[in-house]
Amino acid sequence: MARRRQIYEGKAKILYEGPEPGTLIQYFKDDATAFNAQKKGTINGKGVLNNRISEHVFTLLGGIGIPTHFIRRLNMREQLIRQVEIVPIEVVVRNVVAGSLSKRLGIEEGTPLPRTIVEYYYKDDALGDPMVTDEHILAFGWANQEELHDMADMAIRVNDFLSGLFAGIGIRLVDFKLEFGRIWDNDYGRIILADEISPDGCRLWDIQSGEKLDKDRFRRDLGGEVEAYQEVARRLGLFPEGPDSAVLDLESHRKLRGK
Ligand code: TMP
Repeated sequence: MARRRQIYEGKAKILYEGPEPGTLIQYFKDDATAFNAQKKGTINGKGVLNNRISEHVFTLLGGIGIPTHFIRRLNMREQLIRQVEIVPIEVVVRNVVAGSLSKRLGIEEGTPLPRTIVEYYYKDDALGDPMVTDEHILAFGWANQEELHDMADMAIRVNDFLSGLFAGIGIRLVDFKLEFGRIWDNDYGRIILADEISPDGCRLWDIQSGEKLDKDRFRRDLGGEVEAYQEVARRLGLFPEGPDSAVLDLESHRKLRGK
Protein backbone atom coordinates (compact mmCIF):
# COMPACT_ATOMS: atom_id res chain seq x y z
CA MET A 1 0.00 0.00 0.00
CA ALA A 2 1.23 3.52 -0.80
CA ARG A 3 2.58 5.61 2.06
CA ARG A 4 -0.19 7.33 3.89
CA ARG A 5 -0.27 10.14 6.32
CA GLN A 6 -0.82 9.01 9.90
CA ILE A 7 -3.36 11.23 11.63
CA TYR A 8 -3.39 9.72 15.10
CA GLU A 9 -2.10 6.70 17.01
CA GLY A 10 -4.12 5.44 19.96
CA LYS A 11 -3.57 2.48 22.25
CA ALA A 12 -5.29 -0.09 20.04
CA LYS A 13 -5.76 1.67 16.70
CA ILE A 14 -4.07 3.96 14.21
CA LEU A 15 -5.91 6.47 12.02
CA TYR A 16 -4.58 7.28 8.56
CA GLU A 17 -5.70 9.82 6.04
CA GLY A 18 -8.45 8.32 3.86
CA PRO A 19 -8.76 8.22 0.06
CA GLU A 20 -11.24 11.12 -0.02
CA PRO A 21 -11.72 14.24 2.08
CA GLY A 22 -13.84 13.49 5.11
CA THR A 23 -12.69 9.87 5.31
CA LEU A 24 -10.06 8.08 7.39
CA ILE A 25 -8.65 4.58 7.51
CA GLN A 26 -8.89 2.92 10.91
CA TYR A 27 -6.18 0.30 11.47
CA PHE A 28 -6.67 -2.23 14.29
CA LYS A 29 -3.48 -3.17 16.18
CA ASP A 30 -2.87 -6.26 18.30
CA ASP A 31 -1.69 -4.05 21.18
CA ALA A 32 -3.68 -4.27 24.38
CA THR A 33 -3.53 -1.95 27.36
CA ALA A 34 -5.36 -1.78 30.63
CA PHE A 35 -5.58 0.52 33.64
CA ASN A 36 -4.77 3.59 31.57
CA ALA A 37 -1.88 1.85 29.84
CA GLN A 38 -0.10 0.86 33.07
CA LYS A 39 -0.44 -2.71 31.81
CA LYS A 40 0.65 -3.36 28.23
CA GLY A 41 0.71 -6.44 26.04
CA THR A 42 -0.11 -7.97 22.71
CA ILE A 43 -2.98 -10.25 21.84
CA ASN A 44 -2.02 -11.96 18.56
CA GLY A 45 -4.74 -11.57 15.97
CA LYS A 46 -6.87 -9.26 18.14
CA GLY A 47 -6.79 -6.49 15.53
CA VAL A 48 -8.15 -8.80 12.84
CA LEU A 49 -10.93 -10.04 15.14
CA ASN A 50 -11.92 -6.59 16.38
CA ASN A 51 -11.97 -5.19 12.85
CA ARG A 52 -14.34 -7.95 11.80
CA ILE A 53 -16.51 -7.87 14.94
CA SER A 54 -16.80 -4.10 14.89
CA GLU A 55 -17.68 -4.11 11.19
CA HIS A 56 -20.45 -6.61 11.89
CA VAL A 57 -21.88 -4.74 14.88
CA PHE A 58 -21.71 -1.29 13.25
CA THR A 59 -23.38 -2.66 10.11
CA LEU A 60 -26.23 -4.11 12.17
CA LEU A 61 -26.58 -0.86 14.13
CA GLY A 62 -26.67 1.08 10.87
CA GLY A 63 -29.48 -1.23 9.84
CA ILE A 64 -31.63 -0.14 12.79
CA GLY A 65 -31.02 3.53 12.05
CA ILE A 66 -28.07 4.36 14.32
CA PRO A 67 -25.76 6.69 12.36
CA THR A 68 -22.14 5.45 12.56
CA HIS A 69 -18.74 6.41 11.16
CA PHE A 70 -18.32 2.98 9.53
CA ILE A 71 -18.21 2.96 5.71
CA ARG A 72 -16.70 -0.41 4.81
CA ARG A 73 -14.00 -2.87 5.76
CA LEU A 74 -10.96 -2.64 3.49
CA ASN A 75 -8.91 -5.65 4.55
CA MET A 76 -8.07 -7.79 7.57
CA ARG A 77 -6.99 -4.91 9.78
CA GLU A 78 -8.43 -1.79 8.21
CA GLN A 79 -11.76 -0.13 7.69
CA LEU A 80 -12.79 3.03 5.91
CA ILE A 81 -14.59 5.43 8.23
CA ARG A 82 -16.00 8.93 8.16
CA GLN A 83 -13.77 11.52 9.75
CA VAL A 84 -15.41 12.95 12.85
CA GLU A 85 -14.53 15.38 15.58
CA ILE A 86 -14.40 13.03 18.56
CA VAL A 87 -16.48 14.11 21.55
CA PRO A 88 -14.05 13.76 24.47
CA ILE A 89 -16.44 11.61 26.47
CA GLU A 90 -16.55 7.84 26.95
CA VAL A 91 -20.13 6.72 27.41
CA VAL A 92 -20.33 3.55 29.52
CA VAL A 93 -23.58 1.55 29.65
CA ARG A 94 -24.06 -1.03 32.41
CA ASN A 95 -26.61 -3.80 32.83
CA VAL A 96 -24.79 -5.80 35.49
CA VAL A 97 -22.38 -4.65 38.22
CA ALA A 98 -18.74 -5.26 37.27
CA GLY A 99 -15.35 -3.61 37.11
CA SER A 100 -15.01 -0.08 38.42
CA LEU A 101 -18.65 0.11 39.56
CA SER A 102 -18.16 -2.97 41.71
CA LYS A 103 -14.95 -1.52 43.21
CA ARG A 104 -16.25 1.99 43.76
CA LEU A 105 -19.49 1.04 45.47
CA GLY A 106 -18.50 -2.31 46.98
CA ILE A 107 -21.21 -4.24 45.17
CA GLU A 108 -20.50 -7.80 44.15
CA GLU A 109 -19.65 -8.39 40.48
CA GLY A 110 -22.49 -10.07 38.67
CA THR A 111 -25.27 -8.29 40.57
CA PRO A 112 -27.92 -7.41 37.98
CA LEU A 113 -28.85 -3.74 37.94
CA PRO A 114 -32.53 -2.88 38.43
CA ARG A 115 -32.18 -0.40 35.56
CA THR A 116 -29.54 0.34 32.97
CA ILE A 117 -26.97 2.88 34.10
CA VAL A 118 -25.26 5.32 31.71
CA GLU A 119 -22.02 6.90 32.93
CA TYR A 120 -19.71 9.47 31.38
CA TYR A 121 -15.93 9.64 31.58
CA TYR A 122 -13.82 12.55 30.37
CA LYS A 123 -11.25 11.27 27.85
CA ASP A 124 -7.95 12.44 29.26
CA ASP A 125 -5.17 9.91 29.76
CA ALA A 126 -3.16 12.21 32.00
CA LEU A 127 -6.12 12.44 34.38
CA GLY A 128 -6.95 8.73 34.05
CA ASP A 129 -10.32 9.34 32.33
CA PRO A 130 -12.24 10.66 35.37
CA MET A 131 -15.96 10.02 35.71
CA VAL A 132 -17.98 13.19 35.11
CA THR A 133 -21.67 14.09 35.09
CA ASP A 134 -23.77 15.82 32.45
CA GLU A 135 -23.26 19.01 34.49
CA HIS A 136 -19.52 18.91 33.85
CA ILE A 137 -20.00 18.05 30.17
CA LEU A 138 -22.29 21.05 29.67
CA ALA A 139 -20.35 23.44 31.89
CA PHE A 140 -17.06 22.75 30.12
CA GLY A 141 -18.66 22.60 26.67
CA TRP A 142 -17.49 19.07 25.78
CA ALA A 143 -20.95 18.56 24.28
CA ASN A 144 -24.13 20.62 24.24
CA GLN A 145 -27.52 19.64 25.62
CA GLU A 146 -28.83 18.29 22.32
CA GLU A 147 -25.66 16.30 21.66
CA LEU A 148 -25.73 14.86 25.17
CA HIS A 149 -29.34 13.85 24.68
CA ASP A 150 -28.51 12.22 21.33
CA MET A 151 -25.58 10.30 22.82
CA ALA A 152 -27.60 9.01 25.78
CA ASP A 153 -30.49 8.08 23.51
CA MET A 154 -28.25 6.21 21.07
CA ALA A 155 -26.41 4.49 23.93
CA ILE A 156 -29.71 3.06 25.21
CA ARG A 157 -30.78 1.97 21.72
CA VAL A 158 -27.40 0.32 21.15
CA ASN A 159 -27.73 -1.42 24.51
CA ASP A 160 -31.21 -2.73 23.77
CA PHE A 161 -30.16 -4.03 20.39
CA LEU A 162 -26.85 -5.55 21.46
CA SER A 163 -28.27 -7.12 24.63
CA GLY A 164 -30.69 -9.05 22.41
CA LEU A 165 -28.09 -9.85 19.77
CA PHE A 166 -25.69 -11.29 22.35
CA ALA A 167 -28.39 -13.06 24.36
CA GLY A 168 -29.30 -14.87 21.14
CA ILE A 169 -25.80 -16.36 21.01
CA GLY A 170 -25.59 -17.21 24.70
CA ILE A 171 -23.70 -14.11 25.81
CA ARG A 172 -24.63 -11.64 28.55
CA LEU A 173 -23.83 -8.03 27.69
CA VAL A 174 -22.65 -6.85 31.10
CA ASP A 175 -21.38 -3.39 30.13
CA PHE A 176 -19.67 -1.56 27.29
CA LYS A 177 -18.13 1.73 26.26
CA LEU A 178 -19.10 3.90 23.31
CA GLU A 179 -17.51 6.93 21.73
CA PHE A 180 -19.25 9.46 19.55
CA GLY A 181 -18.12 12.01 17.01
CA ARG A 182 -19.46 15.13 15.39
CA ILE A 183 -19.80 15.60 11.66
CA TRP A 184 -20.50 19.00 10.20
CA ASP A 185 -23.19 19.86 7.65
CA ASN A 186 -22.35 23.51 7.06
CA ASP A 187 -22.71 24.96 10.56
CA TYR A 188 -24.81 22.15 11.92
CA GLY A 189 -23.04 19.44 13.93
CA ARG A 190 -24.57 15.99 14.04
CA ILE A 191 -23.58 13.20 16.45
CA ILE A 192 -22.71 9.75 15.08
CA LEU A 193 -21.36 6.59 16.70
CA ALA A 194 -17.57 6.29 16.27
CA ASP A 195 -14.57 4.24 17.47
CA GLU A 196 -15.29 0.48 17.67
CA ILE A 197 -17.48 -2.07 19.40
CA SER A 198 -15.48 -5.18 20.22
CA PRO A 199 -14.50 -7.35 23.20
CA ASP A 200 -11.88 -4.67 24.02
CA GLY A 201 -14.58 -2.30 25.23
CA CYS A 202 -17.36 -4.65 26.32
CA ARG A 203 -17.84 -7.15 29.11
CA LEU A 204 -19.27 -10.31 27.58
CA TRP A 205 -20.02 -13.28 29.82
CA ASP A 206 -21.10 -16.70 28.65
CA ILE A 207 -24.66 -17.03 29.92
CA GLN A 208 -24.29 -20.68 30.95
CA SER A 209 -20.84 -20.77 32.51
CA GLY A 210 -20.20 -17.11 33.35
CA GLU A 211 -16.90 -17.39 31.49
CA LYS A 212 -15.44 -14.03 30.46
CA LEU A 213 -15.18 -13.54 26.68
CA ASP A 214 -13.62 -10.06 26.69
CA LYS A 215 -10.59 -7.95 27.63
CA ASP A 216 -10.97 -8.79 31.32
CA ARG A 217 -9.06 -11.98 30.41
CA PHE A 218 -6.08 -9.71 29.71
CA ARG A 219 -6.75 -7.17 32.49
CA ARG A 220 -6.98 -9.96 35.08
CA ASP A 221 -4.30 -12.29 33.67
CA LEU A 222 -6.80 -15.07 33.01
CA GLY A 223 -5.17 -16.17 29.72
CA GLY A 224 -7.04 -17.36 26.64
CA GLU A 225 -7.65 -13.85 25.27
CA VAL A 226 -7.44 -14.81 21.60
CA GLU A 227 -9.65 -17.83 22.09
CA ALA A 228 -12.24 -15.69 23.88
CA TYR A 229 -12.34 -13.08 21.08
CA GLN A 230 -12.51 -15.89 18.52
CA GLU A 231 -15.40 -17.44 20.38
CA VAL A 232 -17.33 -14.16 20.19
CA ALA A 233 -16.60 -13.91 16.44
CA ARG A 234 -17.55 -17.55 15.92
CA ARG A 235 -20.88 -17.16 17.72
CA LEU A 236 -21.62 -14.05 15.68
CA GLY A 237 -21.17 -16.29 12.63
CA LEU A 238 -18.09 -14.44 11.42
CA PHE A 239 -15.72 -17.24 10.60
CA PRO A 240 -14.07 -19.19 9.08
CA GLU A 241 -13.60 -16.50 6.50
CA GLY A 242 -11.18 -16.59 3.59
CA PRO A 243 -7.52 -15.82 4.27
CA ASP A 244 -8.32 -14.55 7.77
CA SER A 245 -9.01 -18.07 8.95
CA ALA A 246 -5.36 -18.67 9.74
CA VAL A 247 -5.93 -16.39 12.70
CA LEU A 248 -9.53 -17.33 13.23
CA ASP A 249 -8.70 -20.96 13.81
CA LEU A 250 -11.73 -23.13 14.34
CA GLU A 251 -10.14 -25.39 16.91
CA SER A 252 -9.08 -22.79 19.38
CA HIS A 253 -12.41 -22.13 21.02
CA ARG A 254 -12.19 -25.68 22.32
CA LYS A 255 -8.97 -24.76 24.08
CA LEU A 256 -10.86 -22.06 25.92
CA ARG A 257 -13.36 -24.68 27.11
CA GLY A 258 -10.47 -26.85 28.29
CA LYS A 259 -8.94 -24.07 30.42
P1 TMP B 1 -15.05 -0.14 34.01
O1 TMP B 1 -15.85 -1.12 34.82
O2 TMP B 1 -13.58 -0.35 34.10
O3 TMP B 1 -15.46 1.27 34.28
O4 TMP B 1 -15.42 -0.43 32.47
C1 TMP B 1 -16.73 -0.41 32.00
C2 TMP B 1 -16.77 -0.84 30.54
O5 TMP B 1 -16.14 0.10 29.71
C3 TMP B 1 -16.05 -2.16 30.28
O6 TMP B 1 -16.82 -2.93 29.36
C4 TMP B 1 -14.74 -1.79 29.65
C5 TMP B 1 -15.04 -0.47 29.00
N1 TMP B 1 -13.91 0.45 29.09
C6 TMP B 1 -13.21 0.79 27.94
O7 TMP B 1 -13.53 0.33 26.86
N2 TMP B 1 -12.17 1.66 28.06
C7 TMP B 1 -11.79 2.20 29.22
O8 TMP B 1 -10.84 3.00 29.24
C8 TMP B 1 -12.50 1.84 30.41
C9 TMP B 1 -12.09 2.38 31.75
C10 TMP B 1 -13.54 0.95 30.28
